[in-house]
Amino acid sequence: MARFLNKKPIVQNGESQILSITGGNRLSGEVVISGSKNATLPIMAASLLAKGDFTLTNIPNLADVRVFKEVLKDLGCVTDFNTGRCYIDTNSLGNNVLNPDLIGRMRASVLVMGPLLARFNEVTVPLPGGCSLGPRPIDYHLFGFKLLGAEISDINGTISLYAPKGLRGTIIDLPFPSVGATENLMMAATLAKGMTVIENAAREPEIVDLAEFLNMMGAEINGAGTRSITIRGVNDLHSVNYSVIPDRIETASFLMAGLITGGDVTCVNASPWHLPVILEKLEEAGCELIIDTEKVGIKSPPRPKSVGAKTTPYPGFATDVQPMLMAAMTIADGENIFMDTIFENRFNQIKELIKMGADIEFNGRVALVRGIDNLTGCDVAAPDIRAAMALVIAGLKADGETRISNLEHLLRGYENPVEKLTALGADLKITEETLDTKTDTTQPDKTPVSDEATVSEHPQSDDDSPVVSTN
Ligand code: EPU
Repeated sequence: MARFLNKKPIVQNGESQILSITGGNRLSGEVVISGSKNATLPIMAASLLAKGDFTLTNIPNLADVRVFKEVLKDLGCVTDFNTGRCYIDTNSLGNNVLNPDLIGRMRASVLVMGPLLARFNEVTVPLPGGCSLGPRPIDYHLFGFKLLGAEISDINGTISLYAPKGLRGTIIDLPFPSVGATENLMMAATLAKGMTVIENAAREPEIVDLAEFLNMMGAEINGAGTRSITIRGVNDLHSVNYSVIPDRIETASFLMAGLITGGDVTCVNASPWHLPVILEKLEEAGCELIIDTEKVGIKSPPRPKSVGAKTTPYPGFATDVQPMLMAAMTIADGENIFMDTIFENRFNQIKELIKMGADIEFNGRVALVRGIDNLTGCDVAAPDIRAAMALVIAGLKADGETRISNLEHLLRGYENPVEKLTALGADLKITEETLDTKTDTTQPDKTPVSDEATVSEHPQSDDDSPVVSTN
């Protein structure tokens, strides 16, 4: 049954490259926002639900998207990608066993489980362990697949799902509004017999985009973007052309880059309405907001006022933006608290920011950031996508030169970041060299901040829950 095709190694850009930033330039101007990575990946997975030719537009040219293209190819699809367009021909889809190498490269490849289970009534997923953002199990996905009628077996970390009678509609009350579980279950339920209701569903804009894509394919989904999503199963779906939403996390990243430099940055091809809490924080930090259709910008004060953040599921403050806001707050006027309730290791940036002189105390999931006059450039290593962008933001302000290694993390999540920041006035370039810094994904040294520090806000999974790696 296993057909592991296309096993040649995938070259990830940035592995031996250094990003060198000379800080101090005030950013100003417009930046065009790319399509959303986290909307693109589930939509690519959803194409597996129908036979046909899909054309997806506004697709960012990112390492993660290229790996996902390999995942689809490995399953038998024909794919092509150029200048923001991704073509997927699913007519010869024939494999329902995921390639462990590809899952190991990218956690999001588990998103093909739902569509494959719906199409073949069975799917096999060999799961590797470890992850830079904490354990990241998939038990909520499996909980839902089981309710939809799948039998689950786990032999030495290889999970097999089998629904002998096909999937049946049901009520799934998720223990936590997991983005990936909501997406996987919504996709699986489109072809199930009868009605499925997902309660406590994730409400992120990427869920709504996926539901719109599925509905265009002929699915009957209501309530995406609310806590309760209803899916009436249909017999089959058809291929479509679709344009994905702008990347709200990239938008927030450029706004934070503007904030730390006291700049005026406007993001175009953006969705301001996907950033409610983030825009509130920018206003609290002293920014004047400029909001228009498909446009959002800030005029920043010379030095931001200090603001903190507690991350919660959408519409709360996004865990993906926390590292960038924290970077901007290292030079703010005052001190503030950051809490991440979503991921265990979302504070990977702290150790590196401290190397740059930041004054941060850390305890479990809580960090106290005291603003200093300025950071000092030095050699740092990017530990994950969003921490990488936090280091870029810090480097844009720091005195002297900041050199960031492990650049592949940045390029997994950001399209042309050097070109875009240069156009805004930043002084940065990519060079080929090796730095004497290593990725350190251990948590930063902990200094007591608050007794509530280690409290997690969603049910913790059993230690032996199936786990997948990387972002
Ligand atoms: N969780 C479980 N069991 C599960 C699923 C999730 O315990 O079965 C836990 C996770 O370990 C985590 C929390 O629930 O602690 C939230 O996980 P969720 O499933 O919501 O996240 P995800 O689907 O794995 C997506 C994004 C992440 C983003 C999170 C939260 C994609 C491809 N990834 O991940 O994006 O941080 O939602 O919003 O959509 C990034 O872009 O850098 C990134 C990490």
